[in-house]
Amino acid sequence: MSDDHRDLHERIRAFWDEDARIYDRAPGHAVSHPAEAAAWRATLRRLLPPPGAAVLDAGAGTGAMSLLAAELGYRVTALDLSPGMLAEARRKALERGLALEAVVGPADRPPPGPFDAVIERHLLWTLPDPVGALAAWRRAASAGRLVVLEGNWSGRDVAARARHGAAATVRRLAGRHDPHGGHHGEYEPELTAALPLASGMSVDAAVDAVVRAGWRAVRIERLRDVEWAARGAAPSRLLGWLETVPRFAVVADA
Ligand SMILES: C[S@@+](CC[C@H](N)C(=O)[O-])C[C@H]1O[C@@H](n2cnc3c(N)ncnc32)[C@H](O)[C@@H]1O
Repeated sequence: MSDDHRDLHERIRAFWDEDARIYDRAPGHAVSHPAEAAAWRATLRRLLPPPGAAVLDAGAGTGAMSLLAAELGYRVTALDLSPGMLAEARRKALERGLALEAVVGPADRPPPGPFDAVIERHLLWTLPDPVGALAAWRRAASAGRLVVLEGNWSGRDVAARARHGAAATVRRLAGRHDPHGGHHGEYEPELTAALPLASGMSVDAAVDAVVRAGWRAVRIERLRDVEWAARGAAPSRLLGWLETVPRFAVVADA
């Protein structure tokens, strides 16, 4: 583990080990709705090199992207700090008869590879040094591609907070409690303060980190199909509208 961030990593690992029990129950996490899964499959197939390529999924969690990529024929290594999250990914891979190499460790110390591509979804916000991790992935895929899958999570934005609050109220009134949004749903403020991207993710922030890490030919894509499918997968139109954020990919070459 990276000595610089040992304490932060320990706290983050404990959070996700605890969250592993309920992570897949929250909207959009496990991608179990057929149309949502189909939209993500199309995204991976479009943005990654052809199937058969070796793909590192950094911060793979319970394997949402890893499993879809394995299903598409990629050779996937799932890297995560949390053994609890990875155990869920392994269990689901076994159930589905998919090959998955799971590695416990911090994102800034990836296995040496070489990988043809590195993907991440919803990891950058929780890294103590996102640029350092992105640079490490470039070395592990030195002739490969980066695919960053993110959403506009504007933590400090008043409108976004209002939407989030309204969605929680609608869920409560409809008796549809979001298990991930309970007491274990957020980091302590002082942990958040130590993570450069935790207070809000945006296209600008993601592109800036990717460029600073030395990736080349950086391009972006809005993931409208993923948004569309997520709205359709929500329990009601109102919740679909309140909970679906703009989604985007940042793609780059090593
Ligand atoms: C929001 S979850 C995203 C999981 C998965 N990528 C997905 O799309 O569902 C963040 C994941 O990042 C992992 N994580 C947090 N910090 C990490 C780090 N420094 N190195 C590797 N994994 C980390 C957590 O254990 C958790 O599984």
